[in-house]
Amino acid sequence: MLFSIFKKKSTERPIYKVADADIYSKEFQQNFYKHYPAFYDLGDVVFLEKSNCYAVFRYESARTVLNNHETFSSSHLKTVDAVLLGADGKKHLRNKKVVLQNIVSLNREQLHTTNDFFHSVFEKLWSSLSVDSSVNIVDKLVNPLTLTLIFHELGIHQVPEEWNVFSDKTTLKTKSEAIAEVFSDWNLLNDLVAHNLKEEHLREKLKRLLQLINSEGWYSPEELSRFVRLFIMAGAETTASLIASSIYLLTQRSNDVERLRNHSGYVTDFLNETLRLYAPAQFTFRYTEKEAVVGKQKIPAGSVVAIAIGAANRDPAIFEQPDVFMPGRTAKHIAFGMGRHKCVGEYLSAYLAQMFLGKLLLHWERFDFAKEATVNNTVFAYKVSNLNATLRK
Ligand code: HEM
Repeated sequence: MLFSIFKKKSTERPIYKVADADIYSKEFQQNFYKHYPAFYDLGDVVFLEKSNCYAVFRYESARTVLNNHETFSSSHLKTVDAVLLGADGKKHLRNKKVVLQNIVSLNREQLHTTNDFFHSVFEKLWSSLSVDSSVNIVDKLVNPLTLTLIFHELGIHQVPEEWNVFSDKTTLKTKSEAIAEVFSDWNLLNDLVAHNLKEEHLREKLKRLLQLINSEGWYSPEELSRFVRLFIMAGAETTASLIASSIYLLTQRSNDVERLRNHSGYVTDFLNETLRLYAPAQFTFRYTEKEAVVGKQKIPAGSVVAIAIGAANRDPAIFEQPDVFMPGRTAKHIAFGMGRHKCVGEYLSAYLAQMFLGKLLLHWERFDFAKEATVNNTVFAYKVSNLNATLRK
């Protein structure tokens, strides 16, 4: 994730295989999947000299790191968020509970409350599509829909037009370019949150939530926008990525159109395999509070550890023919992370993807999809950004 990026000087030299790749480079991020196969044979932990961090690419190693939050801390992410991913220990647990209980759409049982709003947004976007000319489905439907829905869940009902191109802001740049650009946009977000705070509904929903989270008192507008920012960063781009990848796969697998229409249970397998094959969040990061052991290897205290989620999901030791789309596999992907910081938006994003596919399948025969799609990764995130189609009457 974008806000995970930082470097720290490691004092000890590695005793591991040192890989040449730089995960922070454009070259690496332009095509994550080209690079991953080289790492599986290098051991449980690899030292990336150019990126100055340790990294785990194997499935079991990634699980070891994610499941041990005491040794592998995520509190260094607090520059952006001290509420959830950037908080450790009791504070994190308490906040997570509050968030899960108070944002109803994060709760699997109550997701249907989002239904009406989803339909109305989809219909509005759908009716704005021009017939008989080529449109980019990702720009015109996927991005605005996910962004509007997530803002809505937080209690923000007016999303300015410029936010619908949010993903363009993070489209592959160098680490520092992307950070600078995204952070300059937070000013826009501050304004948006400040504006919405004047609205009664937001005051009730978002403020109540944050008051619960912050026992010290009210969050300032800046802190409120940090919280909103975490949800937008963590939720919008990733969910849009899942939906875009699943549509892309459908364009390549025409038999699945009928299968999805006729077997409602198949959609879960289809989406899980999409998440495995094209993990929206390719990397996350931890910091070792003490010396750590992963498999047979040690990592010194005070080190940055990169967890290659996308690589772990294609580990050949776990997934037979890892690059092939095979829904219904028994081994579970880790696209939503695992352990204490496992994603809070897992059910919401699966629900949105499912609803979206359902709508699209109703009109599927009316689309002429272009043969090629463009993958335009954002920093540490995988994203099909161009899916052109012509809609027939
Ligand atoms: C397909 C969609 C999504 C994917 C692939 C995804 C992926 C992830 C991953 C890998 C993590 C763990 C990060 C770590 O351990 O360092 C995570 C955490 C998180 N996600 Fe998601 N996410 C998705 C959707 C969402 C949505 C829709 C929201 C909010 C509405 C959301 C909010 C969060 C938050 C707040 C955390 C931090 C949880 C914590 O620290 O306990 N995510 N997500």
